Amino acid sequence: MPPSQLLPILLVTSCLAAIVAADDSAAMAEFLTTLTPPPSGWSSSTSYCTWKGITCDSSHRVTTISLASQSLAGSLPRDLTSLTSLRSLYLQRNALSGPVPNLSNLVSLREINLDNNKFSSVPTSIFKGLTGLQNLSISNNPTLLPWLVPADLADSPALVTLEAASSNVFGPIPEFLGSLPSFQSLRLSYNNVSGPIPSSFNGSGIQNLWLNNQLTGMGGRIDVLAGMTQLQQVWLHMNKFSGPIPDLSGCKSLFDIQLRDNELTGVVPTTLTSLPSLVSVNLDSNKLQGPMPGNPRNIKLILGDSNSFCRDVPGPCDSQVTTLLDIAAALGYPLTLAESWTGNDACAGWTYVTCQEKDVIVVTLSKQGLSGTISPAFAKLTSLKSIYLNDNDLTGSIPSSLTTLPQLQTLDVSNNNLSGLVPSFPPTVSLITSGNPFIGKVLDDGSSSSGGSASGGLVAGVVIAVLVLLGGILFVLYKFYFSKRRNMKRGRSRINEHGKQGRVNDGAFPSSMNQYGGITDEILSEGSDNGNYGGNIVIPVQVLKEVTDNFNEEYEVGRGGFGVVYKGIMEDGTRIAVKRMECSLMGNKGMTEFQAEINVLTRVRHRHLVALLGYCVNGNERMLVYEYMPQGSLTQRLFEWEELGYQPLSWKQRITIALDVARGVEYLHSLAQQSFIHRDLKPSNILLGDDLRAKVADFGLVKLAPEGKNSLETRLAGTFGYLAPEYATTGRVTTKVDVYAFGVVLMELLTGRKALDDSLPDEMTHLVAWFRRVKKEDIPKALDPTLSHLDDDTMDGIYKVAELAGHCTAREPNQRPDMGHAVNVMAPLVEEWKPMTRPDDDSYGINMNMSLPQALERWQTDEGITGIFDSMSYSRTGTSNIPTK
Ligand SMILES: *[C@@H]1O[C@H](CO)[C@@H](O)[C@H](O)[C@H]1NC(C)=O
Ligand SMILES: *[C@@H]1O[C@H](CO)[C@@H](O)[C@H](O)[C@H]1NC(C)=O
Ligand SMILES: *[C@@H]1O[C@H](CO)[C@@H](O)[C@H](O)[C@H]1NC(C)=O
Ligand SMILES: *[C@@H]1O[C@H](CO)[C@@H](O)[C@H](O)[C@H]1NC(C)=O
Ligand SMILES: *[C@@H]1O[C@H](CO)[C@@H](O)[C@H](O)[C@H]1NC(C)=O
Repeated sequence: MPPSQLLPILLVTSCLAAIVAADDSAAMAEFLTTLTPPPSGWSSSTSYCTWKGITCDSSHRVTTISLASQSLAGSLPRDLTSLTSLRSLYLQRNALSGPVPNLSNLVSLREINLDNNKFSSVPTSIFKGLTGLQNLSISNNPTLLPWLVPADLADSPALVTLEAASSNVFGPIPEFLGSLPSFQSLRLSYNNVSGPIPSSFNGSGIQNLWLNNQLTGMGGRIDVLAGMTQLQQVWLHMNKFSGPIPDLSGCKSLFDIQLRDNELTGVVPTTLTSLPSLVSVNLDSNKLQGPMPGNPRNIKLILGDSNSFCRDVPGPCDSQVTTLLDIAAALGYPLTLAESWTGNDACAGWTYVTCQEKDVIVVTLSKQGLSGTISPAFAKLTSLKSIYLNDNDLTGSIPSSLTTLPQLQTLDVSNNNLSGLVPSFPPTVSLITSGNPFIGKVLDDGSSSSGGSASGGLVAGVVIAVLVLLGGILFVLYKFYFSKRRNMKRGRSRINEHGKQGRVNDGAFPSSMNQYGGITDEILSEGSDNGNYGGNIVIPVQVLKEVTDNFNEEYEVGRGGFGVVYKGIMEDGTRIAVKRMECSLMGNKGMTEFQAEINVLTRVRHRHLVALLGYCVNGNERMLVYEYMPQGSLTQRLFEWEELGYQPLSWKQRITIALDVARGVEYLHSLAQQSFIHRDLKPSNILLGDDLRAKVADFGLVKLAPEGKNSLETRLAGTFGYLAPEYATTGRVTTKVDVYAFGVVLMELLTGRKALDDSLPDEMTHLVAWFRRVKKEDIPKALDPTLSHLDDDTMDGIYKVAELAGHCTAREPNQRPDMGHAVNVMAPLVEEWKPMTRPDDDSYGINMNMSLPQALERWQTDEGITGIFDSMSYSRTGTSNIPTK
């Protein structure tokens, strides 16, 4: 090996040696002086690795500090950021004071427990860059100066638990907590936290929510709980939460819910006390209304005596009371009504209600600051003569059911924000609608019919009409989808005949089809709640159901965090893979990735990137339709071949796969009109076709690269083991994070070992760290044992790839090559394996008998850039850009 090739390997080894030589003695010596008295057995004359409670790894780096319940006093060093191997810091139940130390960028740190101490402050930004952190506990430190939930914890995607009860936390709960993928427990009881439960908690995996006893009280409605289906224990007592208790029947694991001492109003959902796991409920000291909840499962149910249930035993309320509560429901159960409308007799002094004999004849809710809608239930109070709802903030329309009230004389709805058509009342009714700027107009943004409780014949009619319309659209789409595919083929062959390139809508398609294209796109993007995804094709759910036999298990080819992948064959023989996801399982993060994937894949098309053929939005489901990759993922071929009964991959197959991946990623980085960063390159995202040629898949984390050389700061995403160090520590991404991950994949191809393998001895678990220490002469021993009997030429290639892998995983991003370099290094290695003679009609050649456009098209296909031209020229005309074979 010439010295120029050895140099990088030498540099790599010396560089690692420098890291290994890092030493924790300074930090530990400071630790010894700040603790008073020092823990027993700690002494400056012995190695810190022998001190009680300290654990070191083989390089004398501190990994654990475990000093719980040691009666320690004194303070901690201000800065522990040099303890870069620290995994666990346990200091709970002592009397430590002073500020919490700076722990920023300790990427190995998983667990911090500082409970039950006397810390004085949590300085800002000390939790920055804790990318491996799982659990942070700092409860029962009432001596802390007021502090906010640190925004820096957004850097900690693995966070499971955050506990800071009785620790003087103030301010709102940040939204990002609900988006952390592993987050399960939040304990912030006995603080001064304010504001609502973040809406991002909807659909999250949070199991335990302890927010009770806030000094000034959290507030707002608690509807979000209904979408937190993983909940087990919810403590919200002693706050100022308001509005009704939502229907929690989706929370199948909820066993304990404490809601006492809030300002909750409304009727308790009958489902609450029959939830399958429920053991304990406390509703005491609220303003709850309606029937007293029953206790069918004999749980521990505390109702107290200060709620406003209509009777003091379970069972239905009087019918006028029930109707008035329906009216209150449409107004969001305002507190004013909850405080006055108590008991089971609406004529027993209820404010705002006037009776004659036993019948309600006047309801006067003027100037009460009410929002919400007018309930159609008013029609059930058949003796009503007057309804005054003026000077509030009511929205929605005037329910037509009100026209049926036989005695009605006055309906005053002036000075609100009502809209919609005014139903026709008998001439005996004095109707006052002035001061409603939108009255008489039908609003088409959906807000006019959004008053959830609006019902009656009119609405039902509209619903039926919409359903019929939707059915029709789906049918048309279904037909259209196939005719479009057929026509597209015809269209393309015509282009070739006429020698025209590009614009295709000049008579190649019936004009009616273009119209359908326009209409359906518009309607579907309105119907789907996420709007327009770009020019890609929507595939009707019927089609997908048909080709997968209604998502039959037999068609299942994979299962992941977000959903299930099915295979299917379209009518024209195209094999497809359908990724089917549930919104509730995807969470906000998943939805963002769904859109990202569509946005990216509609803009890039390459023979080494898995093609998106279409997508489908069906109620709560999201489906992505890809070309089918029959030979599975590189993970299966590399690590699971034995179980799955495959032959191990040969070196030739490995290098060909590596080159395919490099070409796909190079295109993402530099050939597309915009530059993209994949961010999650790894063997499970590299899929194989029948010829074992590879395509890169899963574009859910792709980011648009910033212009120029700047890096982009993002929330950390990706997979441990493949994360470039600068990305893991700072969240900064450039295209070089993909180069790093590619280097890791090369090492896996060389060694047959996984990027992270906990079953190996410590010094070998992390593939990159281990492989970079392997000297050239030891490389044959490091290779995958299935790669045996290699000739000299092949070994030369292997050394080149090993060296390339080393460069790609350089610590500094600017020392890593770009993907183009990787392609250049590997291409000659692959070419060596091409057959020496090619058949005459070789697809790479250009046949001189072809017309120039034909030749151009052939060349584009071979270069894998058909997609750009397709999507530019076709998408505007309402045709699909499904690649044709
Ligand atoms: C914590 O340490 C980091 C890294 O050494 C440094 O950049 C930061 O300024 C420190 N923060 C505080 C509050 O001391
Ligand atoms: C963090 O807490 C969770 C839940 O209590 C636990 O399962 C996990 O093991 C903890 N992580 C560490 C690193 O101790
Ligand atoms: C609690 O927080 C509120 C506002 O969020 C603030 O006005 C009040 O002063 C805080 N109380 C204490 C004791 O810190
Ligand atoms: C929670 O999410 C579900 C499903 O996305 C949605 O239907 C519901 O309205 C959301 N609830 C709240 C309170 O935002
Ligand atoms: C009144 O309703 C319209 C349409 O729903 C809305 O755009 C507008 O913001 C509302 N105005 C007020 C003052 O609430």
